[in-house]
This record gives sequence, C-alpha cells and structure tokens, in this order.
Amino acid sequence: MLKRTYLVTGGAGFIGANYVKYLLSQFDDVNLIILDALTYAGNYGTIAGDVDGQRCQFVKGDICDKDLVTSLFEKYPIDVVVNFAAESHVDRSIVNPRLFLETNILGTQNLMDVARQFWVTGKDDNGYPTWKKGVRYHQVSTDEVYGSLGATGFFTETTALDPRSPYSASKTSADLIVRAYSETYKLPATITRCSNNYGPYHFPEKLIPLIIKNILEGKPLPVYGDGSNVRDWLYVEDHCKAIEAVVRKGKPGEVYNVGGHNEKQNIEIVRLTIATIRRLMEEEPAYRAVLKTDLSNVSEGLITYVQDRLGHDKRYAIDPTKMKEELGWYPETAFEAGIVKTIRWYLENQSWVDEVTSGEYQNYYERMYSNR
Ligand code: NAD
Ligand code: TYD
Repeated sequence: MLKRTYLVTGGAGFIGANYVKYLLSQFDDVNLIILDALTYAGNYGTIAGDVDGQRCQFVKGDICDKDLVTSLFEKYPIDVVVNFAAESHVDRSIVNPRLFLETNILGTQNLMDVARQFWVTGKDDNGYPTWKKGVRYHQVSTDEVYGSLGATGFFTETTALDPRSPYSASKTSADLIVRAYSETYKLPATITRCSNNYGPYHFPEKLIPLIIKNILEGKPLPVYGDGSNVRDWLYVEDHCKAIEAVVRKGKPGEVYNVGGHNEKQNIEIVRLTIATIRRLMEEEPAYRAVLKTDLSNVSEGLITYVQDRLGHDKRYAIDPTKMKEELGWYPETAFEAGIVKTIRWYLENQSWVDEVTSGEYQNYYERMYSNR
C-alpha cells in the first residue's frame, strides 16, 4: 500500500487532536507527524495514546520556526500539510492581536514556503513550478472570515471576505496567503471554512465546554450581551471527515464551506446544556459524583448576562452545498445527539479538564470575567 505522510500542525489542540484520532482509526494509508507548540490550548496528554513513534510522531515546536519546519521536511517524506495550528479564541485576540497575526499569518506563510521548497520538481513552459505528485497543502479556516450576517442568508464560498475581529482578520489574511501561493506558484492547496465546532477535547474557554465546566462547579454562566447571537454548530468529527474528504478529493485552488445546518442562539445553547446535564444526572445518578455543587443549583439561575464582546459578530450560517454536491459530505451528527455525546464525554473526562485548566488558565479566567 502506498503510504502518505501528513504533517498535522496544531494536532494537540481541539480539532487537530480529533483529526489525528479520526485518521489513525479510519485510514491505514497515512503516517502522521504532529507539530504543536503546546500553547495553553495544546495538551500532549490528549494525543499521548496516539503517538507510537512509528505511524504517529510528535514534535514540539512553532510553525513560525523555519529551521524546525525545514528539518521535518528533511527527515520525513511529507506529502500533505494540514494546518490547524492557530491562536483560535476571539476574546484573546481582542486582548493581544499581535500574537494572532504572528502565528496565524506568518506561521501559514512559513509552512507554505518550506513546503514549496521541498515539493517543487521543476518548471513548466510558462515558468510555473511543477510539483511532486500527490502533494497537498490544506488550510483549516473559519466561517468568521465572511464577517457577520443579519437575520437571513448564508455564507457561500463566493461571499466577500469581511472579517471584523483580530482573530478573523488574521485567519482571512492566512487564507489570502494560501490563495496567493496557489495562484502565483500553482502550489496545490485547498481551504476549508468551517462553522463553530463542538465535541470532546474542546478547551473550556469556548462557549460549550466553559458552560459545562461552570455548571458542574455551580459557577455563573457568562452570556455575552442578550444571548441572541447565532452560531452554526458542527460536531467535530463531522468537520474532520470534511477536511479529509477535501484533502483526498478536493480540487487544488478551491475553497469549501463546512457547516452543520444547525443555527442556535447562544442562550438556547446555554439552556439546552443546563437541561441536558440535569437530565443525565437524574437518569444516571452515578454522574452526580462529578458535581461540585448541589444538583438543585443545576438550573437557569446560573445564567448571568455580562458585558457584550467588542465587535461581537451577530450571526454565522454556512451553506455547505458545494461539499455535498462535489464531495458527498454532509453533517451526519444531529445536534441533539452530538450535545449529549459531548456532555457525557466531559462528565467522564473531568481529569482532562483539570489537566488543561491547571496552569495559566485560572488567571485568564479571572482576568476575562472579573470586569464584565
Ligand atoms: P485550539 O486553540 O484548540 O488548538 C490550536 C492548537 O495549535 C493548539 O494545540 C496549540 O498548541 C497549537 N498552536 C498554537 N500556536 C502554535 C504555533 N505557533 N505553532 C505550533 N502550534 C501552535 O484550536 P481549534 O479549535 O482546534 O482550531 C483549530 C483550527 O481550526 C484553527 O486554525 C481554527 O482557526 C480553526 N477553526 C476552529 C473552529 C472552532 O470552532 N474551534 C471553527 C472553524 C475553524
Ligand atoms: P466562542 O465559543 O468563543 O466561539 P466564536 O467566538 O469563535 O464563535 O463563542 C461562541 C458564542 O458564544 C459567541 O457568540 C460568543 C458567546 N460566548 C458567550 O456568550 N459567553 C462566553 O463565555 C463565551 C466564551 C462565548
């Protein structure tokens, strides 16, 4: 069997780790090199069981480090780069935009530059580089590059780019770099733009895992503004399947929108999460062992409206028709089933939550919410 070697950056983060597990369990024809800087959002423990030193290797390091990325291309026969590595939290980007520009833009450019150096085989008659067979650079992007929708309409692949937060501006810039390399050098590259993911290993500073954590601790649930902002939620494994479909079958130079067809207001998500935790605790009393508060406190009384996020995008909604028509992908996991799976995972993996929130996170949480 012809094996391909993937460089998976950010593979110790939420979506990257789920993708690593999905690839290793579903495909025999891939070897993986995970490159991750293990920032506050990356956790080696998440993938420790997957790293076997043969099919799956782990390297700690920064995607902006040219010498390091070059050494990986020298050491391994890398055919595919899937770039998940990023600073990913909008609230943090409002506090420290520069880090987002460095990692998300310059990191992307660095990966593409090194890939270009190793993958070029020559020149065609028009002076364009020719490429090693089967190579692919894939950029994991976000629907946030399209900005904010009003009450109606969907983002398609041709919607104008209109980012509004430092995070989305950095992701948009990275997408433009990918497009530039794809047009200028014909480097075989694809981009997926996905809506909000949820599922196991989601760092508990993002809405759903934060709410789960706070409910279990009996802490206030911070809802920004009036809670009416809308996100289009997709189960993380469905996203991983979409990425792999694009890596294997997507056309170089193309963008694919990936979404769950599952729009919900934030306040609906919070209410549903409270109700689901309450129900699971009542149906399966063993789960109550993880509660750090009385079951009677697991109620909407925890909801606390706080100051809105600056420049808070009102609504995101993806039209994933191209993924369905060209690649046969669709979101398989209904939200009602996905949220129960997710909550069960958190109830059963509290040690993971404790591990990832034991460090710098505590200070962050205090800073973030004390003045709201
Ligand atoms: P995450 O924050 O959970 O993980 C990011 C990972 O990247 C971490 O493991 C971190 O250690 C690593 N990393 C950060 N800076 C790095 C650097 N300079 N060098 C190497 N590694 C570095 O993020 P996530 O939610 O898993 O998102 C992954 C990708 O998907 C991001 O590019 C994000 O923009 C995109 N995305 C996320 C969502 C979502 O809902 N979470 C939706 C659409 C797109
Ligand atoms: P988040 O999970 O940070 O993802 P993104 O900003 O990339 O969409 O936030 C999802 C939505 O939930 C967003 O509209 C902001 C809101 N939100 C809250 O209301 N409270 C919170 O504590 C957090 C983290 C987010």
